[in-house]
Amino acid sequence: MTRIRLENLRKSFGDVDVVHGLDLEIEDGSFVALVGPSGCGKSTILRMIAGLEDITSGSIYFDDQRVNDAEPKARNVAMVFQNYALYPHITVRENIGLNLHISKFPKAEIDRLVNEAAAMLELQDLLDRRPAQLSGGQRQRVAMGRAMVRKPSVFLFDEPLSNLDAKLRVQMRAEIKHFHKSMQRTSIYVTHDQIEAMTLADKVVVLRKGRIEQAGDPISLYESPQNVFVAQFIGSPAMNIVPARVEQGENGQVVITLATGWTIPAGAGSRLAPGQSIQIGIRPEHLIPASGQGGFAASVNQTEITGSQTAIELAANGVRLWSVVPGIHTHAVGGLMTFSFMNHLAHVFDAEGGQRLGNLADIANLPDGRTATI
Ligand SMILES: Nc1ncnc2c1ncn2[C@@H]1O[C@H](COP(=O)(O)OP(=O)(O)OP(=O)(O)O)[C@@H](O)[C@H]1O
Ligand SMILES: [Mg+2]
Repeated sequence: MTRIRLENLRKSFGDVDVVHGLDLEIEDGSFVALVGPSGCGKSTILRMIAGLEDITSGSIYFDDQRVNDAEPKARNVAMVFQNYALYPHITVRENIGLNLHISKFPKAEIDRLVNEAAAMLELQDLLDRRPAQLSGGQRQRVAMGRAMVRKPSVFLFDEPLSNLDAKLRVQMRAEIKHFHKSMQRTSIYVTHDQIEAMTLADKVVVLRKGRIEQAGDPISLYESPQNVFVAQFIGSPAMNIVPARVEQGENGQVVITLATGWTIPAGAGSRLAPGQSIQIGIRPEHLIPASGQGGFAASVNQTEITGSQTAIELAANGVRLWSVVPGIHTHAVGGLMTFSFMNHLAHVFDAEGGQRLGNLADIANLPDGRTATI
């Protein structure tokens, strides 16, 4: 078992800085996902942990040992890549046992370990085939088998499922989860798919341009994103972010006016000051069609029906928004609908840095119920 600690980790390629002083603790036996847009440094970080890439400055610790200069072999890590990297001319059995063979394990021991891995990954019937005779998911399982026979103390995954079709991805995701439960090894999983990160990991690290935007358990990232970037990265479709102004009404009441044209009166003693610019974040699944009278108006641009849910693209005062509702709903394009949301499920971000100030109920001192509408 291994605890991994990154301390002020930096990486530059020539004069281009790609990782800017990363601090991160990965607990023993935990499953951590690194997510972020293409080019944010995920693979580079993983490769530095594996020992495949030099570290520009900072430290990597495995337990209390600084491994900056340790050879990849000495780190006892196994890495599973997107493109499987199987050898085409040898069988599944030989592919899985290859590293053991290279390390000169006795044949009987290789057979035992390969059979054990094959049983765990349900590959027993495929051991004599060659990679070309396997499906994508089966090849991915062989790559995992090859990684696990060495009983490494750390598993590193670099987008292992991105070459698979959607259905197989879901299936393999579940298998990786079982695999981690049974192996209980520290695992770091790189993906740009936030659903994979959310469903697999104990801790999700959201990266942007070589910096950590937020790290935490999946639910806290979903419920309390620290800024607009994380808010829009976690959750699908992405959170609606609407610019808003805090204004003083004629009767002295403080009112939030959204770019959608919607207005929300703040409660007495709210933390908002007239003249302040903010952004209001509402997740599509929290923007609920209003029944009966009242609510915020928006017109329907299009609907996307997937059976289990309907995503409705809306326009309000030229601002585009999404609402997601369970089940099948048909709405005429151009038709007007009204919506509401719960005060405590809407987020308030500052206008400049996009930092989260809190939820709407707290910031505007509103009761926890549905938004009042004017
Ligand atoms: N060997 C290299 N030489 C120069 N620049 C590199 C090298 N490897 C990576 N980079 C740059 O470093 C940055 C981070 O790359 P990295 O591969 O870590 O991104 P990533 O987050 O894994 O992206 P993706 O999701 O596309 O795989 C990118 O801008 C990339 O162009
Ligand atoms: Mg990558």
